[in-house]
Amino acid sequence: MDLTSTETTGGPGTLRYVTWISVVAALGGLLFGYDTAVISGSIGFLRTYFVLDAPEMGWAASSALMGSILGAGIAGMLSDRFGRKNVLILAAVLFSVSALWSALPRTFTEFATARIIGGVGVGMASMLSPLYIAEVAPADRRGRLVSFNQFAIVIGILVVYFVNYFIALQGDDAWNVQFGWRWMFGSEAIPAVLFLLLLFLVPESPRWLAKQGRDVQSLAVLSRVTGEERAEAELKAIREAIREEGRTTAQLLQPGMRRTLIIGITLAILQQVTGINVFMYYAPEIFRQLGSGTSAALLQTIVIGAVNLTFTIVALKTIDRLGRTRLMVIGSTGMGIALTALGLAAYFQKAELWVLLFILGYIACFALSMGPVVWVVLSEIFPTRIRGRAMAIATLALWSANYVVSQTFPLINENPWLVRTFHHAFPFWLYAFFCAVTIVFVITYIPETKGKTLEEIEKLWKRE
Ligand code: BGC
Repeated sequence: MDLTSTETTGGPGTLRYVTWISVVAALGGLLFGYDTAVISGSIGFLRTYFVLDAPEMGWAASSALMGSILGAGIAGMLSDRFGRKNVLILAAVLFSVSALWSALPRTFTEFATARIIGGVGVGMASMLSPLYIAEVAPADRRGRLVSFNQFAIVIGILVVYFVNYFIALQGDDAWNVQFGWRWMFGSEAIPAVLFLLLLFLVPESPRWLAKQGRDVQSLAVLSRVTGEERAEAELKAIREAIREEGRTTAQLLQPGMRRTLIIGITLAILQQVTGINVFMYYAPEIFRQLGSGTSAALLQTIVIGAVNLTFTIVALKTIDRLGRTRLMVIGSTGMGIALTALGLAAYFQKAELWVLLFILGYIACFALSMGPVVWVVLSEIFPTRIRGRAMAIATLALWSANYVVSQTFPLINENPWLVRTFHHAFPFWLYAFFCAVTIVFVITYIPETKGKTLEEIEKLWKRE
């Protein structure tokens, strides 16, 4: 790749440059996936090592998410002040520190603290990687380059499932309880340090530079990403947008905007309460509970990651043809059916193979719909003027819901009364209920945004 290209006509040189920047930024997405899913292969060993009860086990999985809520909450403000690139660098440092510390904690509290630190990095990257890509990318390529981030998230999840599996193979359960989980967490230092080093090679966001009045630098970056001819015009448009934004903080709470914001927040919450991360973080535990040995459980988890990746690709290819709402309705229906069936399998304590099939069906439906589509819808339903702040609030809601679901799963799953009555089926039926809520909600409240410009979408809301 010719990274030093000085082509200025928006030709292949500039496209390569923007793609390169987006790949580096999307490493933030990869770490989002890696860091959140690393827990899945290690939590069983952690539980034995630290002798954890159900609430502590929930905390082992969700402490990082607490950090993510915090990270998503402060990333907007910090990056307005210090720059997108600098805060991404900070996130990469947090990832690296967390990877090493969570591999070598002396107590469970130290472990949870190290995970919170990494979680702050995840929260920051989950907001900033797509935002930074969107701010650097030329308008006509923005959608595709931003979706790249979701793609990176699922790759990160799949990679860490592989890493966990190969580490677990290095010894027996006793070795894994003593050392295996340490390597699993420590391994994140490799992508984290890579991310850190590569960030020094990408420019600051031209939009942020313009906001600081650093027009000369902004123009220099724009010239490289869109070509010199278009750079001046882009800079002018950016300046105009910045002037608009200054006037509109109160707009977030105007009735029309409030409605859009509530819809965005609800959608973000529904993406989580339909249960995805119970499978992403606890899959090996679920498989083990339903009869698999350690390495079979980790292998089955890899299959989950692969199905997730495959159907994400299908979604990215079909989202503009089939439309957002149709994908979400079809996907949530499939997820609901799979969860109900999974609940029945758990209730009647049926064989492992069925369980794997139902889980894979559920994952395929999620990856096809709620996974990528929710992020796409969140990035397009808000008017440009409030998009940054509105997205920050919705992202915060998403991480909070993720926290609640991950923290409560072990409690619900192991509650003696629920287990006696439902034999581990209850959580799955609960998430199936939210799939039904999602279907009704999407049909009632989400307008189809396929093929519409952002301005046309804005008008759609005004007509309601
Ligand atoms: C969700 C994450 C989830 C991932 C799984 C994303 O869209 O926001 O919470 O872990 O999909 O692929």
